[in-house]
Amino acid sequence: MLEIKDLHVSYGQIAALKGISLSVPDHAIVTLIGANGAGKTTLLRTISGLLKSKSGSISLGDSELTKCAPHEIVAKGIAQSPEGRMIFANLTVMENLKMGAFLRKDTDGIATDMEYVFSMFPRLKERHAQQGGTLSGGEQQMLAIGRALMSKPKILLLDEPSLGIAPILVRTIFQKIVEINHNLGMTVLLVEQNAHMALGIASHGYVIETGKIVLEGEASWLAANEEVKKAYLGSV
Ligand SMILES: Nc1ncnc2c1ncn2[C@@H]1O[C@H](COP(=O)(O)OP(=O)(O)OP(=O)(O)O)[C@@H](O)[C@H]1O
Ligand SMILES: [Mg+2]
Repeated sequence: MLEIKDLHVSYGQIAALKGISLSVPDHAIVTLIGANGAGKTTLLRTISGLLKSKSGSISLGDSELTKCAPHEIVAKGIAQSPEGRMIFANLTVMENLKMGAFLRKDTDGIATDMEYVFSMFPRLKERHAQQGGTLSGGEQQMLAIGRALMSKPKILLLDEPSLGIAPILVRTIFQKIVEINHNLGMTVLLVEQNAHMALGIASHGYVIETGKIVLEGEASWLAANEEVKKAYLGSV
């Protein structure tokens, strides 16, 4: 469904992505794992149209996305929960969620989806009138995922949802990602440094190092791979 071919992206003279190819089939959870600076965020920002590629293609079904503006890409069904969450600090939880539905006109559908997000994350419902900036890190992560869901995407891009969150909450958030995939049939591209957790819920994985894919395969195969274990799984 989402197909990336030979994608090159640079910051000025510095190449950040050097020929990335990757595909995310309908209804799958695919993970991209890699260390700091490998190019994970660059890839997600390019898919979302926030960075322009030098060459290569990104297609969703029959549409080519590399020439589209960010709002057109959202309209085509791709939503991102960005690294660092980037929630609107001065808006309430509910207002943040409404921002995710900015391009939608179906008031009833928006209300239904907000109820779904609240049922998925009861903590957000309890705190619906609280300012986003005063939420804990884990709550902000839930809000970022919820806000992305509010655009009713076909594909959810998640940039390091485990970053800076206590292990117990990381488990909850990963369970929710599985639920979203299972209940809504949502396709997920999950970027993570937490390879153990990410490979645990994905069906397929890619390993990125300095802008190139160095390994790919079934998630269970990657999790058992000696190189992956040494580099990304520590002693786990
Ligand atoms: N705005 C920018 N200008 C110049 N170089 C950048 C910019 N953003 C990122 N880079 C560089 O591009 C490379 C890839 O960065 P990117 O943020 O995509 O990595 P990442 O895999 O997401 O890392 P992390 O796990 O730390 O978030 C890095 O070498 C980084 O320094
Ligand atoms: Mg990053």
